[in-house]
Amino acid sequence: MLGVALVGYGKMGRQVEAKIKETKDIECVAIVSPSRTKTLDEVRAEIDVIIDFSHPDNLVMIGEYAKKHNIPIVIATTGYEQAQIDYINELAGSVPVVYAANFSLGVTVMTRVVSQLAELLASDFDIEIIETHHNQKLDAPSGTAKMLLEAVDPAEEYSRVYGRKGDCKRKKEIGIHAIRAGNIAGKHTVLFAGEDETLEITHTATSKQIFANGAIKAARYAVTRPPGLYNMNHVLFKGEE
Ligand SMILES: NC(=O)c1ccc[n+]([C@@H]2O[C@H](COP(=O)([O-])OP(=O)(O)OC[C@H]3O[C@@H](n4cnc5c(N)ncnc54)[C@H](OP(=O)(O)O)[C@@H]3O)[C@@H](O)[C@H]2O)c1
Repeated sequence: MLGVALVGYGKMGRQVEAKIKETKDIECVAIVSPSRTKTLDEVRAEIDVIIDFSHPDNLVMIGEYAKKHNIPIVIATTGYEQAQIDYINELAGSVPVVYAANFSLGVTVMTRVVSQLAELLASDFDIEIIETHHNQKLDAPSGTAKMLLEAVDPAEEYSRVYGRKGDCKRKKEIGIHAIRAGNIAGKHTVLFAGEDETLEITHTATSKQIFANGAIKAARYAVTRPPGLYNMNHVLFKGEE
């Protein structure tokens, strides 16, 4: 039986817990969130893997516990500062870490596809990224939009423009636009626009269940790996990057 400690008991934490309840060989041994057990140090049960869908403020609490007890981590929280991303990279030197801004199969494949399209089109087409999420989301742009941005411009050759207002004649840039409304689970479009033709790749999440399923897959993968930083390409495509 795989013992999972869930960090974060909001919308995603509850989805992961529900999915675990339906699954025979996994159990949820702890739930860590401000309204429950407050830190991993207070957990008495044996933990095999940590799944984190919470808030960037929890990162060091999770990381130090994982290092001390040698426990793999699935990090799904988004909205980290650069120093926190550096901490995640360092942490992966001690324990297996699966870190992804989006745990869905569709977005994992989309990231590959837009990277190839950008290689073919970027010299002739403008690129824009548009993301839409529910009105409770804390961070903008979404972690997934940042991941797509990195896929289309890995060498940061383009300046990044977050929304536009006023005098904003387009230069060598990629625009990133965040829409917040209703209870939309997540929609991401990468738009390639040339003279008289456009190509759009859109992923729409119709529920949050896809992220919970992906995170559980990632947890199963993490417990089989040596220390290192892994993403959903590793999890879904058998170690291939
Ligand atoms: N990678 C992916 O595929 C993916 C998919 C969906 C969401 N996410 C990310 O997962 C995270 C959680 O999403 P959600 O929709 O579940 O959010 P949510 O419903 O707002 O839940 C957040 C959870 O974190 C706790 N929390 C909030 N602020 C905290 C703080 N300062 N310190 C400690 N704990 C804190 C909350 O506790 P209280 O309820 O007590 O405030 C709650 O348990 C977000 O970063 C979101 O962007 C990632």
